[in-house]
Formats: sequence, structure tokens, C-alpha cells
Amino acid sequence: MATPFGIRRRLRRLFGIPLETPAAAVQAPAPVSLTVVSVKGEETKEAAAESTLLAISGKMKHPIASGCSDSSCGTCRVEVLEGGDNISGSDARERATLKENGYPSTLRLACRAELVGGSAKVKAFELV
Ligand code: FES
Repeated sequence: MATPFGIRRRLRRLFGIPLETPAAAVQAPAPVSLTVVSVKGEETKEAAAESTLLAISGKMKHPIASGCSDSSCGTCRVEVLEGGDNISGSDARERATLKENGYPSTLRLACRAELVGGSAKVKAFELV
């Protein structure tokens, strides 16, 4: 909102606060697209970038199986079939959980891995 004397702008400059960006200049990030393949079929969903694979699949008819949602049980493990470069890298906690549960390090935890851009296709496993 503009003021007659531009006092907000002057105060922002004075205190080193960045000037407000016009809403039109702020671009929404491009949506990402996740495809999940399971024994129940294949389903694709779009979502905001940097969403976890588990969060995106939660909006699907058949979401990825999950347990703890905090990277400790390994239930949400998925195999990346396509678009691995569009998924965030794994961290020590994710690798440790996979190792503790006897899963190959090539799998990813859907509750930990984020789809940062573009699209990806993963294979979900059923509960054992
Ligand atoms: S839901 Fe438990 S590790 Fe992802």
C-alpha cells in the first residue's frame, strides 16, 4: 500500500529492510510431476516444487505406503525409475535408515526425498 509521503519505503531503506516486491514480479515455482508405479497401477500427480515424494503421493488414489514419516522405519522406500536428477540428494539419516533395514542404498525414502523440479517416476513397494 502506498503512502502519500513514501514513509514505509524510507523506513525500509533506513533500517536495511528489502523493499517489497510487487506481487506481479513474484513468480510461482513451476509445478513438479510425480508418477508412482505399484502393483495397483500407475498414477501421476502435480504438486509444488520441493514437496516430498510421500506428500505428493498422499494426494493420489493409492499413496506410497508409510509408517513413521520421519525417516526412521523405511516403509516408504521407493525405487527411482526416471528423473533421479530432479530428486534431492540423500542425507546421512536416509542412508542410515536404508542400511539398518537391509535395503540397498539405491532406494530412496519417499518421506525424505523431495522433488525439486521437473518430473520423476518411482516404483513403490508394498508392505511386507
Ligand atoms: S515413512 Fe518411515 S521412513 Fe519414511
